[in-house]
Amino acid sequence: MASTLHTLKLADVEGPLHERLAQTIATAIEDGQLGRDERLPTHRELSRLASVSIGTVTKAIDLLSVRGIVRGEVGRGTFVMKSPSSARADIVDLSLNIPPPVVTESTMSAASARAARSVLGILSGGLYDLRGTRVQREIFTRWLAENRVSLDPDEITLCVGAQQAIYLCFGDLKARSNLIACEGATFSGAIAAAANLGMEWLPVDHDEEGMLPDNLDHALAKSGCKTIYAVPVCQNPLGLEVGLERRQDILKVAEKHDAYIVEDDIYGIYAAKKSPTYKALAPSRVYYLTSLSKCLTPLLRAGLLAPPADRLGSLCSALRAQAFGAAPVASELACALIEMGAHRQAADDLTKEAKIRTRMALEILRLPSVPMPAGSPHLWLPMKAMAAEKLARRAGEQGIRITPPDACSIGSAKSSGVRLSIMAPPNRYDMEDALRRLVRLMDDPEEVVV
Ligand SMILES: Cc1ncc(COP(=O)(O)O)c(C=O)c1O
Repeated sequence: MASTLHTLKLADVEGPLHERLAQTIATAIEDGQLGRDERLPTHRELSRLASVSIGTVTKAIDLLSVRGIVRGEVGRGTFVMKSPSSARADIVDLSLNIPPPVVTESTMSAASARAARSVLGILSGGLYDLRGTRVQREIFTRWLAENRVSLDPDEITLCVGAQQAIYLCFGDLKARSNLIACEGATFSGAIAAAANLGMEWLPVDHDEEGMLPDNLDHALAKSGCKTIYAVPVCQNPLGLEVGLERRQDILKVAEKHDAYIVEDDIYGIYAAKKSPTYKALAPSRVYYLTSLSKCLTPLLRAGLLAPPADRLGSLCSALRAQAFGAAPVASELACALIEMGAHRQAADDLTKEAKIRTRMALEILRLPSVPMPAGSPHLWLPMKAMAAEKLARRAGEQGIRITPPDACSIGSAKSSGVRLSIMAPPNRYDMEDALRRLVRLMDDPEEVVV
């Protein structure tokens, strides 16, 4: 069936042009202007109707196909699959901390072709340098130097996601003390790594900027703990950001107690306070780690670790014992995406989207403020442990997954609540609908004991 769409006035909503165009087309489908199996106008025609570039149309159509609303057929065009309301997922996942898909199929194909050519040039299966090839490390450090931190390619190793980097750091520090200090709730993967290594947590009181230096000082003095795990941007799960002054104070405490900071900068693209990283401030006191999972795609498991220079050798021995480093194919694909500038487009799309979703969530959840109002991929709703558990269970019964307190708690009653990963649903409709249903559950005194 050919398209019956004759006009296209861009939706008057916030957001990048392609998101507005996608929403306009979705509304036309919802209103019945375009029926099921109907063919959409060609990209050229859509670009004329909406007065946008063909590139914008391509991105909008990519978004709609990721959302299951349209499908492309080679040589035939793009067809309506479902209305946006019926494409809505039965289960809305606000528990997984993953970004919506921002790498389009065309970008991934181009990067894969590039990676296929270069990976075959890697000598001896990449087994001689388990840190990643020199060229790969140069590309990763160039990426980080754009906005986060300047590192020498020789001081880093690539690894399998930030998760492996965390495990390696904790393992390296374990000999100094069995304890790890952090806010009262932290990343579940860090909890899993510590548990596997037989390490224990030391909860430290926090405010809107993370751990309180005086409390940290006291806790380290009392316990002899030598490791501080910090997620200074979008702390997971509390959604906090640490500014420059607080970082300097935390570093002073670390130095006083000869403790090391494991800086997990995986959410670095969302930094609004523009502080230098801990690594830039004190290179020899900081194990810096990050990955492409939150700022490009989690499909690559492409992580990076820059320990204090004198620890690199022993960390590489540990890496060698676990694996021969990151898979060369994944690293080459990551490098190709970076070289093509996909990370810049992705960061732009994700930060804009997080800003919009954060604002929507604040309004829907009737929150007066959040620690990162300019946009964070997850929000924290503090509430008593029993209320949080009950909310998580009741939400689950309604097909809404949220992170319950026991997934991220390290035993501090002061940090109980639920985490909502507002960037996890592939579109804003699902996020909005799920948050409104959560509010109804929280408003019902019969249902949730606060
Ligand atoms: C704070 C934090 N660090 C590390 C990770 C793991 O990242 P990767 O997928 O790179 O292993 C996550 C994933 O959710 C995270 O939230």
